[in-house]
Amino acid sequence: METRAEVTKDANRRLRVAIAGFGTVGSAVARILIEQGAASSFELAYILNRRIAKKRVDWMPGSVRWTDDIDEVLDSDVDVFVELMGGLDPAGTWVRRALASGKSVVTANKALIAAEGVALSELACRHRQHLAYGASVAGGVPVLSGLQEGLAGDQLVRVSGILNGTCNYILTRMEDAGLSFADALLEAQRAGFAEADPSADVDGYDARAKITILSRVALGADVDLETVLCRSIRPITAVDLRYAVELGCTIRQISHAEVKDNELHIAVQPMLVERALPHARVVGAQNIVVSTGRYGGETTFSGNGAGGNPTAVAVVSDLVALARLGTTSSESMSPALKKMVASSQFVMPHYTRYLVRDRPGILAAISQVLATYAINVDAVLQLPGHSREALPFAITLEPSSQQALDAAMAEIGKLHFLAQPPLCLPILRKRA
Ligand code: NDP
Ligand code: HSE
Repeated sequence: METRAEVTKDANRRLRVAIAGFGTVGSAVARILIEQGAASSFELAYILNRRIAKKRVDWMPGSVRWTDDIDEVLDSDVDVFVELMGGLDPAGTWVRRALASGKSVVTANKALIAAEGVALSELACRHRQHLAYGASVAGGVPVLSGLQEGLAGDQLVRVSGILNGTCNYILTRMEDAGLSFADALLEAQRAGFAEADPSADVDGYDARAKITILSRVALGADVDLETVLCRSIRPITAVDLRYAVELGCTIRQISHAEVKDNELHIAVQPMLVERALPHARVVGAQNIVVSTGRYGGETTFSGNGAGGNPTAVAVVSDLVALARLGTTSSESMSPALKKMVASSQFVMPHYTRYLVRDRPGILAAISQVLATYAINVDAVLQLPGHSREALPFAITLEPSSQQALDAAMAEIGKLHFLAQPPLCLPILRKRA
């Protein structure tokens, strides 16, 4: 009897595709598949969504079956289950069932792949099926296939980037228009970038899922998602962006992962970024990933990290790769995947900002604490024009251990003249 894997090898047979989740990305994927028509290797067979009466569109050919019944899809002869619903459940259950029932899976679901990707890849292998998730990191930017295939000849040691377009949009607008975080967020929501609940974006959870996936694919390092340090951009103010400009920098949410001494140094956090770095030139809702290889040095991937059409292109590209069999761009996690402990002990220079009720002796008091922890001051910066009741000034610090810095900031945070806890951001500089 012909197996499903053998079926996909038959060049004359178009792969039958079911899309689960007819939202922003799902509808864009459907449109591309339909517009490619008979010339493509695919035949759109099913659209699965809850409350399908509300979802139907007049441009869908009559040959495509609408359903809200997962059993109908999994019992059918479709070859590929394209999961575009998002979330862990029921998406995870349905992906597992699809693989077990002999269907390959393409998904854009970073939350699912970050949390369960290793187990799902193993399940796919056991069932001789493919699991592709190229759209799960940086949307339309082909970064996973670029790292996994294009740079397969190198030994990658570091990967960093801007993986959340909403944060990048907010920070860009705060810098360019001097907006507050709240106003920039509102603008991002009105422009359709940010969700009604912006927490996954602005508090870093979305980028954390993506850097966890990137670490596996680029560095062969697997860490537990929940152990990855993740800091919000909410405490950033327009003043911080003004001070950053004075220091020849901007502020970006940076995701970073690097293997050092058998640990994976990994974090998502807002950082000051030197203007000379490619990360600083990424504006609006764009994404960038910069990988560093032992032999080839730096390689940069950038482009549209979100949106229906760019993300749909990544999904359809996975389908095309899958149709070629065996050349699936992001088929399974690296065979050399190593379980690692996540560390956030970076040694970096830092920007610190204090909002104080002004009086004499403040700098002396802060310097005293920094000196106790052997942290060297680099520069002090205070722009005029602020009220003495809420006076913001910044001190940049030379590289110090994270432990010393955390302890110093905790102690400074107790000083009575502070109007709010100090802000402390690493500074990303061009390596010599
Ligand atoms: P949407 O919310 O626009 O679409 C999700 C669709 O899935 C909706 O039609 C929703 O139905 C349906 N759905 C959700 N849960 C169920 C369920 N239990 N049963 C049946 N249908 C369900 O999300 P997106 O298209 O934006 O995102 C889809 C995936 O792509 C997510 O994993 C996301 O992380 C990922 N992604 C999205 C990007 C983007 O720019 N949008 C970029 C990169 C990745 P209903 O309308 O009834 O809610
Ligand atoms: N006026 C304070 C001081 C500095 O003398 O320490 C606050 O900018």
